[in-house]
Amino acid sequence: SYEGEEITRSPVVTVMGHVDHGKTSLLDYIRKAKVATGEAGGITQHIGAYHVEDEHGGVTFLDTPGHAAFTAMRARGAKATDVVILVVAADDGVMPQTIEAIEHSKAADVPMVVAVNKIDKSGADPDRVKNELSQHGVISEEWGGDTQFVHVSAKSGEGIEELLEAIQLVSEVLELKAVPEAPGKGVVVESRLDKGRGPVATVLVQNGTLRRGDIVLAGLHYGRVRALTNELGQQVEEVGPAMPVEIQGLDGTPDAGDDFMVVADEKKAREVANFRQGKYREVRLARQQKAKLENMFSQMGQDEVAKVNIVLKADVQGSLEAIKGALEELSTEEVQVAVVSSGVGGITGTDANLALASEAIVVGFNVRADAAAREIIEREGLDLRYYSVIYQLIDEVKQAMSGMLA
Ligand code: GTP
Ligand code: NA
Ligand code: MG
Repeated sequence: SYEGEEITRSPVVTVMGHVDHGKTSLLDYIRKAKVATGEAGGITQHIGAYHVEDEHGGVTFLDTPGHAAFTAMRARGAKATDVVILVVAADDGVMPQTIEAIEHSKAADVPMVVAVNKIDKSGADPDRVKNELSQHGVISEEWGGDTQFVHVSAKSGEGIEELLEAIQLVSEVLELKAVPEAPGKGVVVESRLDKGRGPVATVLVQNGTLRRGDIVLAGLHYGRVRALTNELGQQVEEVGPAMPVEIQGLDGTPDAGDDFMVVADEKKAREVANFRQGKYREVRLARQQKAKLENMFSQMGQDEVAKVNIVLKADVQGSLEAIKGALEELSTEEVQVAVVSSGVGGITGTDANLALASEAIVVGFNVRADAAAREIIEREGLDLRYYSVIYQLIDEVKQAMSGMLA
């Protein structure tokens, strides 16, 4: 296919750092919006993608959650990005997810700008931050290193202009290019099942142009793009390189981090998607059989292992993965936590029956049970729990586990 000329494109900047160090607040200030106050428990549950244009040019920001459960998302965020802003609260210093963010940035070989945030607070100690970061190989220019440190406050706005200039400086050195006149391709940032609109995926176009009517292959899924919606909720006809956009028309919800690409015809797209789904099922089946075997062996040795089975439904794929990972990590030698079934979307009768068959707790994360599910749950006396904050969910499962041992 014809490929046009290369042009300079906007940088994609991922904001990372420990929980509550002010990532979303910084982006809010930059966007002059108010997203942080509207989040459940004040925690960013999944990646938000925003494009900002100002006198410095355009920048696309990806917000990531700082909660420990979201390791996979931070790893993917680092891969999909040109520059990482590492946010460290000046009154709290370097914390576990600060270190993890540094590791992801290094692994992906992405340059970093440090935003020492909350500089307005009385307990702010930016020198301590500088010192602690240097112990992890992140050394400020003032100390002879190659990392720009900017003191900022998401509250007062102090230093934010400098931060944007620092991003621009780092980006210019990278000489970021893309070819707008080519079939669109890029990466899935997030996906969810919307009640009215069906599967909705937020994608970042990395090269080419994505247009309404295009046939798209995304991870295990495909479809014709019925609508493109930008972050302001406006319908657009097309988007070019380094731009995030929500798409409708896929036949399912791809995973965050999956590649997407525009393909020439629908038949090919279906074939590739079917092939990938077949492979995926094979792998999953093999894993399940292996788990069954391991289970048999482990039960031969000891009398009984206490088990907490969970049927998990969530609103978005990213939360689902994060929760699954966090739950499975809770397993100990005495109590095993197993997510026996999981998926994106509301709790249905099928989910309730699965829970019944495996004596599982039904967990809805930002989703609720439909009438059919509720009927079964009530009739059979199943345990149904709703959550909108991950750590609350994890804490309660922990409590259930210790209850089983008591
Ligand atoms: P997660 O997404 O949960 O990891 O958190 P986050 O890093 O996005 O932090 P968030 O923006 O939710 O801010 C956490 C808290 O710190 C909120 O109560 C903010 O109002 C507060 N905060 C953020 N930045 C500043 C700042 O510069 N100064 C002060 N005083 N408070 C701030
Ligand atoms: Na927060
Ligand atoms: Mg946040």
